[in-house]
Amino acid sequence: MASSQDRIRPLIAGNWKMHKLPSEATAWLRAFLEDLAATEHGHCDVLLNVPSTHLAPMAALARGTDVMLGAQDVSAHQQGAYTGELSAAMLRDAGARYVVVGHSERRAYHAEDDALVNAKLLRSLEAGLVPILCVGEREDERLAGRAREVVLRQLEGGLQGIEPSGPEALVIAYEPVWAIGTGRTATADDAQEMGAAIRAAVVERFGDTGRALRLLYGGSMKPGNAAELLERDDVNGGLIGGASLDAAQLLAIVEAAR
Ligand code: PGA
Repeated sequence: MASSQDRIRPLIAGNWKMHKLPSEATAWLRAFLEDLAATEHGHCDVLLNVPSTHLAPMAALARGTDVMLGAQDVSAHQQGAYTGELSAAMLRDAGARYVVVGHSERRAYHAEDDALVNAKLLRSLEAGLVPILCVGEREDERLAGRAREVVLRQLEGGLQGIEPSGPEALVIAYEPVWAIGTGRTATADDAQEMGAAIRAAVVERFGDTGRALRLLYGGSMKPGNAAELLERDDVNGGLIGGASLDAAQLLAIVEAAR
């Protein structure tokens, strides 16, 4: 375990995916803010990555609170004739501070490859958004003993030409695909082992900044398994899907990050 002085401040990040209507989201957030105020949470940062239609109304409510907002995807282009796309500057203007990039659902259902993910990271950084780069192997890749190779390749491809201005400017999330939405979680040992491999890669690339980057684990993180995962050195937070839709579960994970 790292000593308390060099412990990286955890980031507890919800990923709502395509759930809730904006009106439901603001009602949810109002109640959540009250509950969060009554919960010890000064030890971590709390972020909700929500559908882009929810950003502006939720950001208005969250202003001046300890909840930050993020988007779940961003265009690889700055602006122009790209029907249906949202630029990083638009998301930032709507209230996002973070954006999830290269989530496995986008890689699988929208054919996003490492080059596209890399372009999205570059546009995010240019616009002052903090990208959360998602990497993670599929089950067949893990069974074939290729998990580490796959993750390091995604990292290498995604981070081409990326220069974070400091450790707050970039987040990496390790999300094994077989653990997402399945109820199956990587063991804390597995999560730490991959976290350590990612740490070594980002230290090699970014030096001291890499040492202090936040590395998240995602994939069926729940109140029951969060504490064990979050106490590991290279698990500096969670990217939480299903459990983040439920305020009580999300708060329990916030508490588990202590
Ligand atoms: P899950 O999703 O927590 O529902 O497994 C995690 C994610 O996809 O980010």
